[in-house]
Amino acid sequence: MSNTNIAHEIEKLREELNQHNYSYYVLNSPMISDYEYDRLMDKLITLESEHPELFDSNSPTQRVGSDINIEFQQVKHKYPMLSLGNTYNEGEITDFFNRVVKSLDEPFEIVCELKYDGTAIGLTYENGGLVRGVTRGDGVQGDDVTVNVKTIKSIPLKLKGDYPSEFEIRGEIYIPHKGFEAMNRERAEAGEELYSNPRNTASGSLKLQNSKQVAKRPLDCYLYYLLGEELPADNHFCNLEKAREWGFKISENYKLCKSPDEIFEFIHYWDKERHNLPYDIDGIVLKVNSLNQQKRLGFTAKNPRWAISYKFKAEQGYTRLLSVDFQVGRTGAVTPVANLEPVQLAGTIVKRASLHNADFITALDLHLNDMVYVEKGGEIIPKIVMVDMDSRKPKAEAVRFITHCPECGTELEREEGEAAFYCPNRQSCPPQVKGRIEHFISRKAMNIDGLGAETIDLLYSVKLLHDVSDLYSIHPMQLIPLERLGEKSARNIIKSIEKSKSVSFPRVLFALGIRFVGETVAKKLAMAFKSIDRLEQATLEELIEVVEIGERIAGSVIEYFADERNREIIEKLKRAGLQFELSEQEAKTDSQLLASKSFVISGSFAKHSRDEIKQLIEKNGGKNSSSISSKTNYLVAGDKIGPVKLAKAEKLEITIISEDDLLNLIQL
Ligand code: IVH
Repeated sequence: MSNTNIAHEIEKLREELNQHNYSYYVLNSPMISDYEYDRLMDKLITLESEHPELFDSNSPTQRVGSDINIEFQQVKHKYPMLSLGNTYNEGEITDFFNRVVKSLDEPFEIVCELKYDGTAIGLTYENGGLVRGVTRGDGVQGDDVTVNVKTIKSIPLKLKGDYPSEFEIRGEIYIPHKGFEAMNRERAEAGEELYSNPRNTASGSLKLQNSKQVAKRPLDCYLYYLLGEELPADNHFCNLEKAREWGFKISENYKLCKSPDEIFEFIHYWDKERHNLPYDIDGIVLKVNSLNQQKRLGFTAKNPRWAISYKFKAEQGYTRLLSVDFQVGRTGAVTPVANLEPVQLAGTIVKRASLHNADFITALDLHLNDMVYVEKGGEIIPKIVMVDMDSRKPKAEAVRFITHCPECGTELEREEGEAAFYCPNRQSCPPQVKGRIEHFISRKAMNIDGLGAETIDLLYSVKLLHDVSDLYSIHPMQLIPLERLGEKSARNIIKSIEKSKSVSFPRVLFALGIRFVGETVAKKLAMAFKSIDRLEQATLEELIEVVEIGERIAGSVIEYFADERNREIIEKLKRAGLQFELSEQEAKTDSQLLASKSFVISGSFAKHSRDEIKQLIEKNGGKNSSSISSKTNYLVAGDKIGPVKLAKAEKLEITIISEDDLLNLIQL
């Protein structure tokens, strides 16, 4: 292919991929399969890597993010990013409406929109390309988070149609419920503390310094406000319609109103209907439609006079605290849960509320039989937000956090810097043991069918199951006499247990339930160490050298193997025939060209991210290390290499190679 043809081919692929992104993430109606999409993407990645001169920072390939940690630059907003005045009742809306009537003294329209509950973003486009994404910050200046914004697939990197040459569009970055629940499922699997709500998680995600991590977060973005010198229309409503044509995700849920009654109708409708949306909104925004009228109304020091928000009342229930339970999870963390007199709240009856941890109970100053206010926010279960102190009975008993495990009586421990108390009796505290067995048999782990929480409970209570290794010595005849289990289901369970012996090593490792070792981490560890024996031998330093394994995970792995009882269980599982090493096929590295060579990488690279470079080294049999020592064979030097590393490498006479040299070494 000639160079012009290649440029043409690359441009065509970029356009096609942009269109498919738009169909999938903005319109919610994919036109091709994931497989076909990946093939187009692979083709573009290959062509772009062969032709670095055709690099484009707005190519769809750039959405994967990079693992170079960046410090955000502070950028001054071209137009200050003001917030809206809040109203909480219809009277305040009527006041706003009357103020506008009085100031304008002519007919006007109000656009009613949803108020998305996320984090604000300002996106600048020049000549149809995204050039900058900036957070609100203090309203005058914010953080330049462009690299992170680019990973959000519903935000167009290139626009379609007749857009102005320069403009800013503002919107809200949020996490939909489904994505949020999936994130928390993963956290729970790894035994980690759950994220508290989608809003905080969205703003936290946008501020992550590693855009590759941001790319994994299920962020989305609705846009709601255009700014610029050459906007297409003289009113907000038509400008949003135009922005939709350029490829932005603009909500369909807005309405033009002429009277307070029409506004109230919209508010009442969404106050109910918001519970059926796949994301959180916390109110309604009202905006004067005409840009000319907006200009005439102007701003106060803090807010526009032409717009206001109406905040929904977080639905509150008022009820009595009956008692507090303390639940022990699979990791031993103790969670306090309030038992309430049943109360109707946002369409459901609430009987229990989360109390999070000991500090939360102290902060509420909670006493038994208190009358309390409960709210359903973005959180999964309702929470107690306030105590009605006036209703407290004299001599009411304060709720105290327990000092000993309610299940096994062991004294609880609290690790420094952690909010939760733990029961340290990992080996014989019943909910921890049963929880670990439930995790072990779960679908993504050993996938053992027919055994639910109730059966495990039963097998545990009749002492057939003490730990996961006992699963492999159960006989069908032992199961049949048990309550609820017929011969057929007993045989099916045994069959499923038998089948689990062929489950691959990464999943077995995940199934062991080592704290902080979720599915992805288990895969990484299995690929890096190949067998449980080598993993057991690994030092803290060796563990940390594996891509994406930090000190917390490494420490937890070390702690797990340091416990003799865990090692005994592994021995029993080995004897039962489980897979404790990668099969030849799984273990196959791309080559052994870098075998027994130790690498340190430094700086940033033109063709690959740092993570990709590390993976290339590992896949070809080499080892990554974070610091230079006399054992280091090569320093792979990229752009902006750390001067200290360079000096050390030179002093120890270590071979310094470039990214291209490394690719040559592995014959790429
Ligand atoms: S318009 C000058 N429209 O609510 C007007 N804001 O304090 C700028 N928000 O910081 C804002 N949904 O993060 C607007 N449909 C919507 C919105 C919205 C959510 C957020 C935004 C802003 C805050 C208001």
